[in-house]
Amino acid sequence: MKIDVILGLQWGDEGKGKIVDYLAESYDVVARFQGGPNAGHTLYLGGKKYVLHTIPSGIFRPHITNLIGNGVVLDPVILHRELEHLNRSGIDYRHRLLLARKAHLILPTHRWLDVASEAHKGQGKIGSTLKGIGPTYMDKTGRNGLRLGDIEQGGFRERYEALKSKHLELLRLYPPVAFDLEAAESEWFASLEALRALPFVDGEYYLNDALNEGKRVLAEGAQGAMLDIDFGTYPFVTSSNTVTAGVCTGLGVAPQRIGRVIGISKAYCTRVGSGPFPTELTDALGEQLRQAGSEFGATTGRPRRCGWLDVPQLRYSIQLTGATELCMTKLDVLGLISEIAIATHYSYGGQLSERLPYDLCQTLVTPVLKKYISWQNDLRDIHDFAQLPPAARAYVEDVEALVGIPIRMVSVGPGRDQLLAR
Ligand code: GDP
Ligand code: IMO
Ligand code: MG
Repeated sequence: MKIDVILGLQWGDEGKGKIVDYLAESYDVVARFQGGPNAGHTLYLGGKKYVLHTIPSGIFRPHITNLIGNGVVLDPVILHRELEHLNRSGIDYRHRLLLARKAHLILPTHRWLDVASEAHKGQGKIGSTLKGIGPTYMDKTGRNGLRLGDIEQGGFRERYEALKSKHLELLRLYPPVAFDLEAAESEWFASLEALRALPFVDGEYYLNDALNEGKRVLAEGAQGAMLDIDFGTYPFVTSSNTVTAGVCTGLGVAPQRIGRVIGISKAYCTRVGSGPFPTELTDALGEQLRQAGSEFGATTGRPRRCGWLDVPQLRYSIQLTGATELCMTKLDVLGLISEIAIATHYSYGGQLSERLPYDLCQTLVTPVLKKYISWQNDLRDIHDFAQLPPAARAYVEDVEALVGIPIRMVSVGPGRDQLLAR
C-alpha cells in the first residue's frame, strides 16, 4: 500500500484538522510526521470544539490507530494536557495512540530559549508560537537532543541535566527571561512518566509493516508549505520540512511509498506571525475577512493576517509538495464579504512573473489582481456542489484552472459534514 498525505499549501491553519478527521474514516492509521505543539488543528464534533496540538486528528475515530512520528518534536507537558482533555471528554484513546521512540523531546529550557531568542530579535522576531520548536530542532540537528525512547535507557537523568546546563549557559547570552525551573521541571518529569502508559514503537517498522499488511495510512501535515524550513519565506518559517519530503524523514517511509497528496488551501490566505505576505490586506477588507472567518490562532489566539488567494504562491507549493489534488476550505467566508480578488501574477523588478523571487523579504512584490463578484450568500447548509450559487462555483472552477490540479473537495463550514465532494 501507499501512504496518502494531507498538508497545508499556505502559511498554516488551512483547515487540515477538519479534513484529516473527515477522511480518516477510510484509513486505518493516521500519523503526524513533523512540527510539534506549534500546531493547532481544530475539529468540531457534535457541536463541541477540540483543538489538537500533538495528537493526530484521527483520534476521534474509534477504528484508527494514531501515530506521533519520529519527525515530531514532543512536549510531554502539552501532550499530557491534551490526553487529560480527551479523558474529560470521554474519548478513549488508550488503544489507539502510539508514540515513536525517535521523536525528540522539547525541554522546558527549549521553550525559554525560544522566548529569549525572540526577545533578542526585537522588531525582527519570527513571531514564533514560543513552544520551543526551533531550539529543539536545533538540538536534533546539532546531535544533542533527547528522544522519547531515551527514557527507556539508562542515564536519562544525567543526559537531561547536561542538556539543561548547556541551555542555562546559553540563556545568559540573551535578554533575561523569567522562569520557574523547579516547578517546570517537576511537571515535565511527571508528564513524561504519565506518557509511559502509552505504547512506544519504532515508528518506521510499525508503519512499513502496516503498509505491507495492506493497511491504509494517512500522513497529517502541520503548518504549511510556505513555512517550510527550506522553501518557505525564510527566516520567517518554522524549523521542519512541511512539504511531502518531510513525510519520508518524519515517518521512515521511502519516497516510492507516497500515494495521493491532498493539498489544503483556504479560499483566501492567512498568516500568523511575522514575514512577507504579498496579498495581505491591511485595510478594512482584511478586517472583514478576519471577522467573517474567525481568523484568530488556534494555538496562541493571535489575530491572523488576511489577504487574497495567491496563485503564484499556490502553484509553488503544489510543485514542492507534488499535490495531486486540492481541497479548498472556507469558501463560505468569501460569501460574507463585499468584494473578492485573486493574485494571478506578481509584478517585481519591472516585470510580470508567475514565480516567487529568491527572497520575498527583500523584494517588493505587487500582486496583480483579478476581481470576482461576491455571491453574498450563506453556503453553510449546502450539501451539493451543484447547489452553490453560480458565482461561487465559477470562483472554484477558475482557481482550479489557474493552479492546474483538480479541486476535489470544497469546505463550507467547520463541521464534519460541511464538505462538498466534486
Ligand atoms: P489547521 O491548523 O490547518 O487544522 O487549521 P486551524 O484549526 O488552525 O484553523 C482552521 C479554522 O477554520 C478552524 O477554526 C476550523 O474550525 C475552521 N474551518 C475549517 N474549515 C472551515 C470552513 O470550510 N469554513 C469555516 N467557516 N471554517 C472552517
Ligand atoms: P498549524 O499546524 C500557522 C508560524 C508561527 C511563526 C512561525 C514559526 O496549526 O497550521 P514556530 O512556533 O514554529 O517557531 O513559529 O510559524 N506557525 C504557524 N502558523 N499554523 C501553524 O500550525 C503554525 N505553526 C507555526 O506563527 O510565524
Ligand atoms: Mg492551526
